[in-house]
Amino acid sequence: MKSRIFNGIVFLYFGFFAVITLGFAVYWHDFKKAPEQPIDFSHELHVGQLKFACTLCHQTVERAISASVPPLSKCMECHKAVATDKEEVKKLTQYWENQEPIPWEKVYSVPEHVYFSHKRHIKAGLDCSNCHGELAAQARVRKVTTLKMGFCIDCHKARDASRDCYTCHK
Ligand code: HEC
Ligand code: HEC
Ligand code: HEC
Ligand code: HEC
Ligand code: HEC
Repeated sequence: MKSRIFNGIVFLYFGFFAVITLGFAVYWHDFKKAPEQPIDFSHELHVGQLKFACTLCHQTVERAISASVPPLSKCMECHKAVATDKEEVKKLTQYWENQEPIPWEKVYSVPEHVYFSHKRHIKAGLDCSNCHGELAAQARVRKVTTLKMGFCIDCHKARDASRDCYTCHK
């Protein structure tokens, strides 16, 4: 009898930790982990140290729905000459010579049924860091906000923007 209760307690105890660990693993995988990229491109270096503006590379962010990721030709404006001895830049040059686009892994996205536009948010005076954190401190881009509905709604409430369903679900 006693040992059965004991076993029960042990079972619950480890069961509890198994659930916590699993939950944490799922959270970590989805939310915090920076995906491995084909080229180890660093915002910390290009933005934090070199002080390049976001719009140098994400050229459509102020005038379109999409921020866009720069084409390889943008990188090559500098890297035909800059840091050509570095391993990662050699890889970059390889893509260029083979005329292959770099298959960047996406970090941020919303489902098909959600309408989102960068232009509107930038025009409203928001900063990239409101939704993407400080890129100057990210050697690799990682997801720092959930992009769940609650995340959008919280800010729309705080800034008195529309919370009508049709605003985000066309
Ligand atoms: C020199 C070019 C360059 C500059 C400058 C730059 N980026 Fe990027 N950015 C990239 C490239 C290339 C990628 C795709 C690879 C990656 O995720 O690291 C990217 C990816 C991103 C992503 C993730 C996109 C996704 O996959 O969902 C965000 C967010 C982002 N940049 C924000 C910014 C912000 C904010 C700034 C300015 C503070 C900035 N970037 C400046 C080149 C640049
Ligand atoms: C406006 C010029 C410019 C553009 C555009 C640019 N870079 Fe760079 N990049 C630099 C400079 C400057 C360095 C630092 C060179 C050094 O440390 O000697 C650098 C360094 C690098 C490195 C080497 C990091 C290391 O130390 O190993 C990689 C990889 C790189 N850039 C990738 C990219 C990619 C990918 C793009 C396009 C999305 C890009 N860069 C666009 C100027 C640029
Ligand atoms: C109000 C929140 C918000 C702000 C502010 C914001 N973004 Fe985004 N960003 C998003 C969302 C949401 C996505 C995913 C869009 C999708 O899946 O269609 C995204 C995606 C991206 C991407 C991936 C490519 C793309 O367009 O899907 C890049 C790059 C990016 N953002 C850069 C920036 C830059 C640079 C700024 C500042 C000039 C910025 N973002 C400001 C929410 C934001
Ligand atoms: C940090 C604050 C903030 C976050 C986070 C945010 N928004 Fe917004 N959003 C605003 C503001 C402010 C406006 C009003 C812009 C204006 O008046 O033009 C706006 C406007 C919009 C509009 C246009 C509204 C219209 O009347 O047409 C859409 C669509 C939208 N947001 C979708 C989203 C979605 C989807 C997300 C989450 C992925 C999101 N927003 C996250 C602040 C935010
Ligand atoms: C400011 C933008 C915004 C507004 C306003 C908004 N939604 Fe959403 N909604 C989202 C986003 C972003 C997602 C995707 C969340 C995710 O990726 O899981 C979403 C997802 C959903 C889903 C799919 C289930 C889920 O949770 O993922 C339903 C259903 C939904 N919304 C209904 C509504 C209804 C009903 C309203 C009006 C009362 C509304 N939404 C208003 C941004 C918004």
